[in-house]
Amino acid sequence: MIRAENIQKNFGSLQVLKGVNLHIAPNEIVTITGASGAGKTTLLQILGTLDKPDAGTVTIDGVDTGSLSNDKLSQFRNNTIGFVFQFHQLLPEFTALENAMLPYLIKTGDFGKAKDEATRILEYLNLSERFDHKPNELSGGEKQRVAVARALINTPKVIFADEPSGSLDSHNKEELHKLLFKIRSDFSTTILIVTHDKELTRIADRVLDMADGRFV
Ligand SMILES: Nc1ncnc2c1ncn2[C@@H]1O[C@H](COP(=O)(O)OP(=O)(O)O)[C@@H](O)[C@H]1O
Ligand SMILES: [Mg+2]
Repeated sequence: MIRAENIQKNFGSLQVLKGVNLHIAPNEIVTITGASGAGKTTLLQILGTLDKPDAGTVTIDGVDTGSLSNDKLSQFRNNTIGFVFQFHQLLPEFTALENAMLPYLIKTGDFGKAKDEATRILEYLNLSERFDHKPNELSGGEKQRVAVARALINTPKVIFADEPSGSLDSHNKEELHKLLFKIRSDFSTTILIVTHDKELTRIADRVLDMADGRFV
């Protein structure tokens, strides 16, 4: 589902990724661990097609992402990939429902259907009571579940999560981790998670440890 070959990335004279190779099978849940500065976020951004490598290829679901034009790539990303970040990155002026709707609205232009889909997915995530709340009216765990709804609404093949439970308390952390496994079994999603959490790493199918721009 995810195949990266010889990914290299430099920022100026700093070599951040030094030839990373990665193969992830459909339906796998894989965690990436490693010290701060190891290159985890840079790698996730490149795998998620939000940034481009200086060398190497990223193939997602059989598509060589480097061969797509910018328009096709945006479309591919919106249809195929969901993102969950450490700090939810919800739009503050929009409600939970509106935040969750956006990727579907962008995909189809159909406001009514986007609202229906967002309603369905927020209900699946136990957020039925929170449709009209803006991010600052939601708890940390709820905000992160809305971010998961936004990631899920276009039924992505792949979810990339960058320290998704990094700013949650232990109860919400555990709930979010359980949710990721439930999503994998309900939607057959492939999930790659950068995390420092030992428990999540213990229950993952596979763990990749990164140090100084490489897997070790
Ligand atoms: N846009 C950027 N410009 C310059 N340096 C960057 C940029 N993004 C990341 N870096 C540097 O690349 C290294 C790896 O960063 P990052 O991928 O965020 O690591 P991690 O997520 O493992 O903590 C760090 O030294 C960081 O300062
Ligand atoms: Mg990081």
